[in-house]
Amino acid sequence: MCGIVAYIGNKEAYPILIKGLQRLEYRGYDSAGVALLNGDITVYKKQGKVQDLLDFSQDLPKEGTIGIGHTRWATHGVPNDVNAHPHSSGNSRLTLVHNGIIENYSPLKTALEKEGHTFSTDTDTEVLVHLIEEIQDRHKLSLEEAVRIALTRVVGAYAIVVIDREDKNKLVAARKGSPLVIGVGEGEFFMASDATPIIEHTKKVVYLNDEEIAVVTRDGDLEVKTIANEVQSPFIQELDMKIEMLEKGGYDYFMLKEIHEQPKTISDAMRGRLNATNCWIKLGGLDEMAERIMAAQRFIIAACGTSWHSGLIAEYLFEDLARIPVEVEYASEFRYRNPIITPEDVVIAISQSGETADTLAALELAKDKGALLYGIVNSVGSSIARITDAGSYIHAGPEIGVASTKAFTGQVTLLTMLALSIAHKKGTITDTYFRQLVIELANIPSKVSQVLESDEQIKYIAGEIKDRTNALYLGRGYNFPVALEGALKLKEISYIHAEGYPAAEMKHGPIALIDEEMPVIVIATNKSAYEKIVSNIQEVKARKGFVIAVVTEGDVEISKIADHTIEIPDTEEPLTPLLSVIPLQLLSYHIAVMRGCNVDQPRNLAKSVTVE
Ligand code: G6P
Repeated sequence: MCGIVAYIGNKEAYPILIKGLQRLEYRGYDSAGVALLNGDITVYKKQGKVQDLLDFSQDLPKEGTIGIGHTRWATHGVPNDVNAHPHSSGNSRLTLVHNGIIENYSPLKTALEKEGHTFSTDTDTEVLVHLIEEIQDRHKLSLEEAVRIALTRVVGAYAIVVIDREDKNKLVAARKGSPLVIGVGEGEFFMASDATPIIEHTKKVVYLNDEEIAVVTRDGDLEVKTIANEVQSPFIQELDMKIEMLEKGGYDYFMLKEIHEQPKTISDAMRGRLNATNCWIKLGGLDEMAERIMAAQRFIIAACGTSWHSGLIAEYLFEDLARIPVEVEYASEFRYRNPIITPEDVVIAISQSGETADTLAALELAKDKGALLYGIVNSVGSSIARITDAGSYIHAGPEIGVASTKAFTGQVTLLTMLALSIAHKKGTITDTYFRQLVIELANIPSKVSQVLESDEQIKYIAGEIKDRTNALYLGRGYNFPVALEGALKLKEISYIHAEGYPAAEMKHGPIALIDEEMPVIVIATNKSAYEKIVSNIQEVKARKGFVIAVVTEGDVEISKIADHTIEIPDTEEPLTPLLSVIPLQLLSYHIAVMRGCNVDQPRNLAKSVTVE
């Protein structure tokens, strides 16, 4: 939610900021702005995409070797030019960009108004920059000291960068709850919400911790202290990311590229961790905490969105294979429910970005109650990766399309390995079955490639249903969460209303919606419930529903009754989601493209949800 970027050095800041904002646009894209310090501070901001800002500022002066930028996902105040960041203090001396929410902005605003401050925007951020100004002015403080004191009065989440017209050699940044990375170059510094704007300039980075303030200067100084004024030694680390990972690589959209990357990303999730020849699985994170994990009374999985769907699949995996009771929780509900958590519980957080505010807060709560925290995360160095006691990265590489695809299959791959490894250690599955599943898991990447070959057929089917206004997705067992994920993909990017349902539950409500206008996508690959799902398809057909069935290769029965069948290769039932989700991703993609939607940046959404 919102991306921020900043630069100080000897180069022109504007192109660096713009490129950085384009990389961060997945975090929000309703308005964008930059501020450049060059004698005075020049602010350009515009409703719309970074491209709109670029067009607007095309013929305007853009000099300055220090600057800050922002791409917004609105929380307080509608998306328009005025509410776009950066925001300036009343005396125009300070300018600031902010990602997060200042929860107590209202009492702060009232108090500042009493001191004579007037506000020109509806944002919480403008209150913060006025507060810093008030403290700086009143006590004649340096920028960093004024920022530090102001932040002791703020409730909420923030990553901020501030510039001061009277101090032309400095950027001051701080974070709490929202991410901030500092790139350390030769005589220059970069700051951004994640490493993607930094990677083409330097691989050396510092991940700022919560409640830390950083001051970087043109002379090459980097100082970090806490908001409580304790000096910290910044830990500089090397990024393991390549610039090609951030490009579309010939595809029309990042989402399509990411769908097609899945044979590789699933392999990457398994690399060095699974050996099919000698039949072993080894997860460093699990080994570190093996004793507590093996003794756990239950697993609680906390996640949001697509990651929550991975969690539902994990529930089937852990219960079915490892015989561990599992609860899967929407992190946002869990954290406010006064949940019962004990030190015997293992709380598993699943998150692509590693920054989702609700998931992070659920972990903090579980930590206070003494549970062991395990993270399944994609984004290296992210907040969730850092707060957990142990964990496993899925190694899918940067996921840029807002709708999650390769992160989902990476998470499911990782969770499958985790369940198998625990099951094997606990002896809840036989050696033979373990061997069978390990060998088959190693075959999944090539089977995903096979599914991707159905792209043209899926595109054709997309054309058949692209103008419908509703869709129903049905699945049973391991494929029920896949039905939810298929429906989510469709609504996220094509704006068609879609619902996922357990196939048998259809009779308790959704069946009333079925007529010839309703496409019903049925994932019908389960061997264990095959006859039952065939009956469910019959029920839909009897009501004239338009059935698209995802079936196992060679299926003859369903192709006789369904309007379309999409075949996927045969596999072990617990591994089916890794294959059955692929046609659903492609179907949503093609429908969205045919409807003229912006696939990578769907309206109102953002990829990294750092607000509650
Ligand atoms: C947003 C994204 C989804 C994602 C969800 C959870 O809603 O648009 O794609 O599944 O957040 O994000 P996380 O980074 O925690 O997996």
